[in-house]
Amino acid sequence: MKATAVAHANIALVKYWGKRSEAAILPEAASLSIALDRLRTTTTVELGPAADSLELDGAPADPARARAVLDAAGIHDRARIVSRNDFPTGAGLASSASGFAALATAACAAAGLRRTPQELSALARRGSGSASRSVAGGWAVWEGETARQVLPPEHWDLRFCVALCAAGPKSTGSRDAMRISRDTSPYHRAWIEQCRRDLPRALHMLSARDLPGLGDLAEKNALRMHADMLASDPPLLYWEPATVGCLQALRDLRRAGTQAWVTIDAGPHVVAICAPPDAKQVETLLRGVSGVKDVLVCAPAGGARVLP
Ligand code: DP6
Repeated sequence: MKATAVAHANIALVKYWGKRSEAAILPEAASLSIALDRLRTTTTVELGPAADSLELDGAPADPARARAVLDAAGIHDRARIVSRNDFPTGAGLASSASGFAALATAACAAAGLRRTPQELSALARRGSGSASRSVAGGWAVWEGETARQVLPPEHWDLRFCVALCAAGPKSTGSRDAMRISRDTSPYHRAWIEQCRRDLPRALHMLSARDLPGLGDLAEKNALRMHADMLASDPPLLYWEPATVGCLQALRDLRRAGTQAWVTIDAGPHVVAICAPPDAKQVETLLRGVSGVKDVLVCAPAGGARVLP
């Protein structure tokens, strides 16, 4: 009645920003991501206590969204959930993806339920949409109810330099922000159509290991998502001065001949994508940008797994 699982956060190259069903957490368009080795969550689930409880990095948290995942799995026993992140917490890094992926995997193992990765992905989605991709791990596509690994992490050894551009948690959570964009942004339909065009192109470049092609596509996809956010009412502005500083520094670096591109989720942090030999130079550059607190250099990682 007790099991522990680990899962990695992921960064999307074609983003998920918009739901066609909010109740079921179904995306309007398919997305593509890569799991990141240094952003890892370990979660233990123990079934049988009198009430649900959740401990996140040593502090009590609301177990409501975790309960939604357990209910969807048909687990009606109460659960004691203890979750720990290997990366700085409260910094607004995407811990919900790795957290719900580890939770779904650990909970089913604790209950003795045998579930396929596809089924676990659909369960994790009930906690957070992007968590469906963290169950699959590697290069993952989420379409409809589940995500699947389209290529293993070894397919392409890239580096993802995560520049922390602010200290605190983000202002508006993705759940509310996504709804605001869909309901109020005049650009939202165009954004969704863009994602539908971007995904097949991105998959082609991924299989060909075309870094300039995929980097350029991912950077434009992220900037267009932020255009949709900015056009929302109220406007969703996630960037800090350091975010813009990183964007400009990388643009200058690229003009000087180093291949590195940028993506940004619903927060201020910048993720630079580059080949392994260029990672040191990119890391040093980002550390020098005013306001950058830290830089975590990540490599591709696999999916969620139960620890022995
Ligand atoms: C900007 O998965 O956190 O990171 O499904 O409402 O829980 P909910 O949202 P969440 O949104 C992630 C949005 C994003 C883009 C992405 O990861 O694809």
